[in-house]
Amino acid sequence: MVAVSKDAQASHPLAERAGVVQPFRVMELSKRAFAYEAQGHTVVHFQLGEPDFSTCEPVVAAGQAALAGGLTKYTNADGVQPLREAIANYYCTTLGQQVAPDNILVTAGASGALTLLMAALFDPGHELLMADPGYPCNSAFAHLVNAVPRLLPASSEHEYQLTGEQVQAAWTEHTRGVLLASPANPTGGMLSATALAGVCDAVHANNGVVLLDEIYSGLVFDERPDGYSCGWEVDRDAFLVNSFSKFFGMTGWRLGWVVTPDWAREPLERFAQNLFISPSTPAQYAAIEAFSPAAMAEHERRRDVFRERRDLLVGGLSQLGFDIPFVPGGGFFLYVDVSHTGMDAETFCWRLVDEYKVAVTPGTDFGVVGAAQHVRFAFTTSSEQIEVGLERIRTALSDWGIGAT
Ligand SMILES: Cc1ncc(COP(=O)(O)O)c(C=O)c1O
Repeated sequence: MVAVSKDAQASHPLAERAGVVQPFRVMELSKRAFAYEAQGHTVVHFQLGEPDFSTCEPVVAAGQAALAGGLTKYTNADGVQPLREAIANYYCTTLGQQVAPDNILVTAGASGALTLLMAALFDPGHELLMADPGYPCNSAFAHLVNAVPRLLPASSEHEYQLTGEQVQAAWTEHTRGVLLASPANPTGGMLSATALAGVCDAVHANNGVVLLDEIYSGLVFDERPDGYSCGWEVDRDAFLVNSFSKFFGMTGWRLGWVVTPDWAREPLERFAQNLFISPSTPAQYAAIEAFSPAAMAEHERRRDVFRERRDLLVGGLSQLGFDIPFVPGGGFFLYVDVSHTGMDAETFCWRLVDEYKVAVTPGTDFGVVGAAQHVRFAFTTSSEQIEVGLERIRTALSDWGIGAT
C-alpha cells in the first residue's frame, strides 16, 4: 500500500480521507521478509495475521461442489437461508446465545460487516470510541462515512480493553458508539461478561450503539470463571461482528456476518443490497459445511494447536526477558514490551528481520500510546518455526549485548 502524498492530493481530485487512511507499516517489513526468502534465506514469520492452515477439506469440497453445481449467481443480500440457519444454530448450541436466522446478515468478511454498520449507524462527525491499541482498519471504516475514530488508551491491567467508566468519561454530545473486540487484535485481550456489561451500560445510558467484534471468539483457549465474549447474553442491543476468516480458516473466501437487533435489520439489508448486492455465493455454500461435525472437529483441533503455540511462545519470550503482562485467553497474538532491549519497536523489528530473519510487527501499526515500545507476535506459524524464531531472538539479544532482566 502506498501512502498518498500531500502533493498528489493537491494536484489530483482525491478525497481528503485518501490522505488520512494509513498504510500498514508491517507491509514494507513483510515485503522485505519475503524478499529475503526469495534470496534463499529461511525467515520466521511472526507478522502474519491469518491462520497458516488452509481451509479444511470438507469446506473446500463443498465449495467445489457449489461451483460444479452452478451456484455462481447472486443470492439474497443477507445471504442464503441455510447458512443463516447454520450460523444461528452455532450461537444456540455452541455459544449458548439465542440468535435467530433473521438477526443474521452474511457479509464480505467482518470487514463487510463493519462497512455496513458504519453506513447504517454513523453520520458525518459522529465519534466512534475504540481502544488504543486496536485493529488499525477500524479507523478507516469510520473515515469512510466521515465519522471520527477516537482512540482511548487501554491498559494491560484491563487486558487492553476499554472500561465502562472510561467510556462514560469520554462520551461527548458527538459520540455515537463504541467498537470493542474480544479477543482483540493485537493483544488477545478479552472482556469478561462483567466488563462488557459495564461498557454496554455506559453506552446505552448515552443512547449510543455497541459494536462488538468477536472475530476471534472461536479461538478462545481457556475456560474463564467470569465468562468471555458473550455478546447477546450480555446485551441484546449490541451488534456482533464475526467472520469465517480466523477460527474457520477461510480468510480468502471473504465471508463473515453481523448479528443485528431487530430494529436495524432492515436498513442494514438495504445497505447490503446497494453496496454489495450479495456475499460470494460459492463461499456461502462452502461455509455451511464449516459447521459440519467433521469440519468442526478439525477447527477445534487447530484451536488446540494455537493454544500449544501460545504457551510455547509465552514461555520462550518470558525466558528471554520480554514483559508479557497477561497471557491472552484467545486469538493468535501476543503484544510484547520490548523496552528492555533499549530499542524502539520499529528499530527492533527492522533489525530483527534484517540481521536475524525474524519478522515481527511493530506496535506503531496498532495505536499511539505505548506503541513504540511494543511489538505483536502472531503465532500463525508452526511450533518448529516458533522454536527457530526464539533461538534466533536469543542469539540476537546476546549479539546485541542485551541480557534477560
Ligand atoms: C479484529 C479484526 N476484525 C476484523 C478483521 C477483518 O477480518 P475479515 O474481513 O477477514 O473477516 C480482522 C482481520 O485481521 C481483525 O483482526
